[in-house]
Amino acid sequence: MIHLRNITKSFGSLQVLRGIDLDINQGEVVSIVGPSGAGKTTLLQIMGTLDQPDTGQIIIDGQDVRKLSRKKMAQFRNRRIGFVFQFHQLLPEFTALENIMIPAFIGGVGRKEAQHRATELLEFMKLTDRADHKPNELSGGEKQRVAVARALINHPAVVLADEPSGSLDSQNKDELHRLFFDLRDRLKQTFVIVTHDESLASMTDRTIHMVDGLTSSEPFDSFAPKDKTAKESSIVSSIDINSLQDEKQ
Ligand SMILES: Nc1ncnc2c1ncn2[C@@H]1O[C@H](COP(=O)(O)OP(=O)(O)OP(=O)(O)O)[C@@H](O)[C@H]1O
Ligand SMILES: [Mg+2]
Repeated sequence: MIHLRNITKSFGSLQVLRGIDLDINQGEVVSIVGPSGAGKTTLLQIMGTLDQPDTGQIIIDGQDVRKLSRKKMAQFRNRRIGFVFQFHQLLPEFTALENIMIPAFIGGVGRKEAQHRATELLEFMKLTDRADHKPNELSGGEKQRVAVARALINHPAVVLADEPSGSLDSQNKDELHRLFFDLRDRLKQTFVIVTHDESLASMTDRTIHMVDGLTSSEPFDSFAPKDKTAKESSIVSSIDINSLQDEKQ
């Protein structure tokens, strides 16, 4: 489903990603954890074609995305990748229903079909009675569920979420996390979720640990050990822990 090979990325002299290899299967819910500045958001943005790596290959749903023109890449992103950010990023002047429909319109889906899909998603999110509310009339948890519905409207190959529950209280957090697993079970939806939330990470099929621009399925020393089976921690990039000690922060 998603294959990353040797992804590197520097900002000036700061090398943020140092050769990431990663494979994610359809229907998998994968979490990415690691300290602030480890490169998690950078990796997610690159995976989502919102940013370009310096080197490496990104294959999503059989498509080598770096070979696409800018226009085709934007089209691919709209149709195949859903995004959920820490802050919902809904458009304030549109209702919940309209916000959900927007990516469908951008993708050329007709109004009737877009409305049908958005209505179904709202129902799935248990938000039918909030369809006509604007974001400032929704609770934090509701806004985030609308954002998830918006990410799903074009039936994406993968939903990429960057700290999606980072701004929620514990009840809304739990509800949102349950929603991800519901969507996986019912739609076989693939998720890659960057999170600082240990309980969410422990629920996911696999946790990728990032530190200093490298990934591992095993926690580095600086992480709390997690109870994961060998099967769950199968995939990883090359790790050179010794070299981490030489890295400047
Ligand atoms: N556009 C940019 N220009 C320069 N440096 C950047 C840019 N984006 C990120 N960085 C730097 O790259 C490093 C990794 O950033 P990134 O946002 O990927 O970290 P993160 O793991 O998501 O951290 P957090 O948990 O705090 O969100 C940081 O040192 C950051 O300052
Ligand atoms: Mg981040």
